[in-house]
Amino acid sequence: MAKIIAGIGASHVPAIGAAIDNGKTEEPYWKRVFAGFEKSQAWMRELKPDVAIIVYNDHATAFSVEMIPTFALGCAAEFPPADEGWGPRPVPVVEGHPALASHIAQSVILDEFDLTICNKMEVDHGMTVPMNLLFGKVDKNSHWPCPVVPLAVNVVMYPPPTGHRCYMLGRAIRKAVESYPHDLRVVIFGTGGLSHQISGPRAGLINSKWDKNFLDNLSKDPKKLMKIPHVDYMREAGAEGIEMVMWLVMRGALDDKVDEVYRFYTVPASNTAVGHIILQNKKYGAAKKAATKSTRPAVKHKRAAARVKVDRKRS
Ligand code: DHB
Ligand code: FE
Repeated sequence: MAKIIAGIGASHVPAIGAAIDNGKTEEPYWKRVFAGFEKSQAWMRELKPDVAIIVYNDHATAFSVEMIPTFALGCAAEFPPADEGWGPRPVPVVEGHPALASHIAQSVILDEFDLTICNKMEVDHGMTVPMNLLFGKVDKNSHWPCPVVPLAVNVVMYPPPTGHRCYMLGRAIRKAVESYPHDLRVVIFGTGGLSHQISGPRAGLINSKWDKNFLDNLSKDPKKLMKIPHVDYMREAGAEGIEMVMWLVMRGALDDKVDEVYRFYTVPASNTAVGHIILQNKKYGAAKKAATKSTRPAVKHKRAAARVKVDRKRS
């Protein structure tokens, strides 16, 4: 049986992608941002998930204003990077997992969530930037470390889905994954945010107090976040702060109680507050601990820890 092990929240600022693509990650402005993801990349390398479900938003690249699905599930075998105005990012085509995606579509739609099924879809920075932040830079001619089931959420045109709807969709996705008949270790990403406003008189707005409170509640009391109306996101976190509802799909797919493995917050990257969190299902943490105790003598355990440290240095 498949199971969701952990959830990852990460911003998707396009300038982060440009910094990676143009070799600027060592510049002081960007080093500060990328340093916050070194531990996460080591964690991800150790976890080696079989599949990632990535909840993200398209920025009028795959979908124009002519067609705006609220929730679009990518069921294709591959998702090419979209042309975002400067050409597609030089990253590999994202490989899909059509069998798991179709299973999720069936389970979730029969559970009364109306998804749009996409058998052809390009993906923009909303998805590829968080992938880089967690998987590191991947050569265009190589492969991402695992296949992806993309879920695009409309947060660009009013009305986006409510936080409650997003959380409940996460619940339905978890039920779908748990009824998939093959063993798969799945992680789920919620992307976008945190507070930012790109245009208008309040352009450049960042609200760190709101962001940190959001991260605290995401970890400990997500049901509080489900009740936040859109207008509060707009007022407090800026017009584009509404992207944060996508983190609630991720949170809904996890257990009520989770372990916060890691958190990072820095301001700004471009116009945006960069937030990042890793939440792990307690059941997975406990099972992992038991497995290491019964199969690995203490010395080996130390060596594994040392290996992670070396990996972190290298990254
Ligand atoms: C920026 C952030 C976004 O989320 C986005 O989609 C576009 C631009 C920015 O901070 O520049
Ligand atoms: Fe965005």
